[in-house]
Amino acid sequence: MSTVETITKAVARLGNEPLSEAGLIEHIHPLFSRVLARNQRTDEIYLANHSLGRPLDALGDDVQECLDAWYTDIDGAWEVWIAEREAYRGRITLLIGCSRADAIIPKSSAGQGLRAVLNALPTAKPSIVATTGEFDSIDFILKAYHHKQRACVSWVGAGPSGLFNADAIIATISHETDLVVVSMIFFATGQMLGELDRVIRAAHEHGALIMIDAYHAFGTNPISIEQLGCDFLIAGNYKYTRGGPGACFLAIHPMHLSPTPGVPARDALFTTDTGWFAKEDTFGYHRTQSPALTDGGNAWLEATPPVITYYQARSGLALINAIGVDRLCAYSMKQLSSFEQMLGNAGINTRPLDHHGAFTTIAVNDGAGCIEKLKAAGVNADGRPCPTTGVFHIRFCPDLLSTENELAQAVERLSPIIRPIAVQH
Ligand SMILES: Cc1ncc(COP(=O)(O)O)c(C=O)c1O
Repeated sequence: MSTVETITKAVARLGNEPLSEAGLIEHIHPLFSRVLARNQRTDEIYLANHSLGRPLDALGDDVQECLDAWYTDIDGAWEVWIAEREAYRGRITLLIGCSRADAIIPKSSAGQGLRAVLNALPTAKPSIVATTGEFDSIDFILKAYHHKQRACVSWVGAGPSGLFNADAIIATISHETDLVVVSMIFFATGQMLGELDRVIRAAHEHGALIMIDAYHAFGTNPISIEQLGCDFLIAGNYKYTRGGPGACFLAIHPMHLSPTPGVPARDALFTTDTGWFAKEDTFGYHRTQSPALTDGGNAWLEATPPVITYYQARSGLALINAIGVDRLCAYSMKQLSSFEQMLGNAGINTRPLDHHGAFTTIAVNDGAGCIEKLKAAGVNADGRPCPTTGVFHIRFCPDLLSTENELAQAVERLSPIIRPIAVQH
């Protein structure tokens, strides 16, 4: 049975009800026997799912299938590899509400997606508005462009609480702005930006494009690039979708792609992050004076692609698509609030947020020390200093493999270690 069939059958046995721990243990946990065996072996409670998601058993077989095609068919493998690229793109469209698979451009990092867009903007030194809460990769790339005078970045800070608000971002957008870059859920605090739709509208009213970093929402929260109306979205698979590093993507709103497949959009945006897979006739080997791009989103492809990542991401994406993000999100919110309640009962307050992603945080003074002690006590979590306040937030993310019993044990283990500090709300 193929990976997708196995997953589809397992999920079908869950029924259409809201997810329950008992159902997950019976039908879904067996798909993860390798990582669950590790739990038994190490007695570790893994709560860093927001950082590196845990793989299904099938991931290893899927990667092997990619390699087997090479051993068996040598260059004939390209046909199945490219078919898998299309399946990869298709699986992502379902998670981000996108009607066209060619709007998904596989990338090896989210940062690569940002660079492709920066290198597509029509001005030599574009004006960018970004928040100081963007993930390090995004922050660093923007700083490098600014430093080399390839962009002029205006940074929007957070309030004293380290949280961002739409009004401050909107106030920084002007008619000079070419691109706005903002997270849907901020990596350090887990804050989901309220009124993202207003920010998108404001960018467009000022003639700017807008890119959403949806890494912490991809696979955990319902997203629709077409309903949101943002121009670009970046995310990847190594966290909640369990697809490992290297399987990232840039999504382009179909409004920027030629409407009719087969009809190149000559005036459409195109990027200098390009290569022969973006050519009109990749295997025709014709040379033209100016770059003759293929139609639609494929004009954003690059050079010879890495192919293993499509296989690596297959099982995780298939699982989430089969279960449905809505159900997963509802389960995750319930699980988080139960974990927060257990922590509260032990006198440990998590940081309350009106809207947040799949992890909760506890602010502490000695972040690095706490993480080390937690690891020693068998709780695997991680943390980041908030880029705006410097306050260290330990992040905890249970997932569908985490049980109530495990969460209760985690609270017992972390209670003697963590001394939360108060943060302004
Ligand atoms: C919000 C956000 N964006 C992007 C990334 C990853 O960026 P890149 O793939 O460029 O390393 C992360 C990783 O933790 C993240 O949290």
